[in-house]
Amino acid sequence: MPRLTVAMPKGRIFEEAVELLRRAGLAIPPEFEESRKLIIPVEEAGMDFILAKPVDVPTYVEYGVADIGVVGKDVLLEEERDVYELLDLKISACRLSVAGLPDWQPTDAPRVATKFPKLASRYFREQGAQVEIIKLNGSIELAPLIGLADRIVDIVSTGQTLKDNGLVELETITSITSRLIANRVSYRMKSEAIDFIIDKFSTVVPKGVEV
Ligand code: PRP
Repeated sequence: MPRLTVAMPKGRIFEEAVELLRRAGLAIPPEFEESRKLIIPVEEAGMDFILAKPVDVPTYVEYGVADIGVVGKDVLLEEERDVYELLDLKISACRLSVAGLPDWQPTDAPRVATKFPKLASRYFREQGAQVEIIKLNGSIELAPLIGLADRIVDIVSTGQTLKDNGLVELETITSITSRLIANRVSYRMKSEAIDFIIDKFSTVVPKGVEV
């Protein structure tokens, strides 16, 4: 079978994704998590792993430098890359929500801070609401606390970050899990190898409705 290059997201999804690979029966060595290397060949699995920033995973896959990748649905929706979404891996479940201070009231000039400007714009447009979107790159919860924005659109997982900062969830936009994606050409040219991986994952991913 042809060798596959797999783009893996560093950070919060990584551990769960590696655990899923192991549960699926792929021979991922223990040093996989410990190394600082960014390209890790795993001969036993016939794969080369690229450790990427999560937001860049769909880019590597769209350009074909990775055949497949693991990425959050939030990133997929935001990046709008031309890739196949093959499987809901049902890991790293969280939701994308609108949050603000508990006494939040509609204002004349609403401002929303987020790491997901396209997603947030689309959501508020669909709601018929005109808001100014302010793109931030992290610590989004700061924005309402210091008066940069009246609301945020951000990932909520345990809800602890909101709680610790005195914020509340106002609306849920969508639920999020990680997905297996593929490059369109790779999916045709390396279908046997990719189908093999899909089968492996399918045995350990709980069945249910995809979101
Ligand atoms: C994410 C998200 C929230 C937090 C939610 O941030 O942007 O801040 O996690 O998780 P919780 O509901 O379990 O508290 P991340 O840790 O990725 O950091 P950043 O957004 O500040 O980069």
